[in-house]
Amino acid sequence: MRGKRVLITGGAGFVGCNAARYFGARNWQVTVLDNLSREGTDQNLHWLQDGTRFDFEQVDIRDRAEVERVFSETRFNAVIHLAAQVAVTTSVTDPRTDFMINALGTFNLLEAARQHCPEAPFIFASTNKVYGKIDGAKYQLAGSRYTYADRPHGIDEQQALDFLSPYGCSKGAADQYTLDYARIYGLPATSFRQSCIYGTRQFGIEDQGWIAWFTIASRLRRNITIFGDGKQVRDVLYVDDLLRAYEAAIVSPDKIAGQAFNIGGGPRHVLSLVELVELLEKKLGRKIPLKWDDWRPGDQRVYISDIRKLETVLGWKPETGVAEGVGQLANWVQVNEHLFATPAESRVAATSEETALPAA
Ligand SMILES: NC(=O)c1ccc[n+]([C@@H]2O[C@H](COP(=O)([O-])OP(=O)(O)OC[C@H]3O[C@@H](n4cnc5c(N)ncnc54)[C@H](O)[C@@H]3O)[C@@H](O)[C@H]2O)c1
Repeated sequence: MRGKRVLITGGAGFVGCNAARYFGARNWQVTVLDNLSREGTDQNLHWLQDGTRFDFEQVDIRDRAEVERVFSETRFNAVIHLAAQVAVTTSVTDPRTDFMINALGTFNLLEAARQHCPEAPFIFASTNKVYGKIDGAKYQLAGSRYTYADRPHGIDEQQALDFLSPYGCSKGAADQYTLDYARIYGLPATSFRQSCIYGTRQFGIEDQGWIAWFTIASRLRRNITIFGDGKQVRDVLYVDDLLRAYEAAIVSPDKIAGQAFNIGGGPRHVLSLVELVELLEKKLGRKIPLKWDDWRPGDQRVYISDIRKLETVLGWKPETGVAEGVGQLANWVQVNEHLFATPAESRVAATSEETALPAA
């Protein structure tokens, strides 16, 4: 007898397919909804089919009638909304599509949830980009990485919202709609403002998924270019740790309803580019040749999430150490080299600023 039902939008993407496997293994009945627009989603679905029972809906979240149909056919006990246009670059060249997917698509889901399963916890995968560049934060160089000079715990949820780029606006609007549906309609809905997430089944390219990109490129001896001095730093969270937080939120809807949470590795799980290279060199047992280039416009030297609110409210904390997580990713890349047989640059159509360094 299978348990409760969870809808995972974007369930064929990086975080989504890991989420589907995670919840499937915990006896949830999983529905994966995805329009398969992202390259690599077919491989992720294929991987999921080998061991996870799930229903699949090939639906575009812009299509209100189709979203309605999915919600009217199944009464979900939880919704994890991950489907998104994830590229800042694309949002700049095609802001309408970005708006339709991220803002209107999220609105369609919230409306369907309000009509059909208003008691179901609703988790929106928001982004630290809602805070913009955070010009006010001071930073300093400390060895192989930058650190904040004045924010020892990182950036907390009191940070002023400052949507930058069409992507920042569309995700930010969705973030605010999610919180307001909790306030106005009582949905147990939350926005998780995610920092850099990394892990297996992430097909990184140069401008996207930097940890995965460096891992893949170094294994396949592709050129790696570092922009700036390589000491720019992010807090990083292994995908399994993110999924434990989703689960903790779902089982405690009263604690998360209407609240935003910053989530990432926090100050204890940070990584600069040159530190990642060092880890990978140890793993590979050889030097990785690097090319160097100028800083890119808008490069942020530091972003680190203050995750204390989530730790306090849900009793959650990251468990996967950086070296351990990078090691798992590297092992996956090694075993699955065939997946990267064609240039990674052409394999993935979208470029995500979410995980990009230094543009994050
Ligand atoms: N990965 C990160 O570091 C990170 C950081 C912050 C926020 N996020 C957010 O987390 C979520 C998941 O990110 P990810 O890294 O797994 O991205 P991903 O690109 O791997 O997954 C997104 C999925 O959404 C699907 N999709 C896109 N447009 C759609 C549409 N119109 N209808 C239905 N499906 C559609 C894609 O096919 C893809 O499978 C996204 O909302 C992203 O903005 C990710």
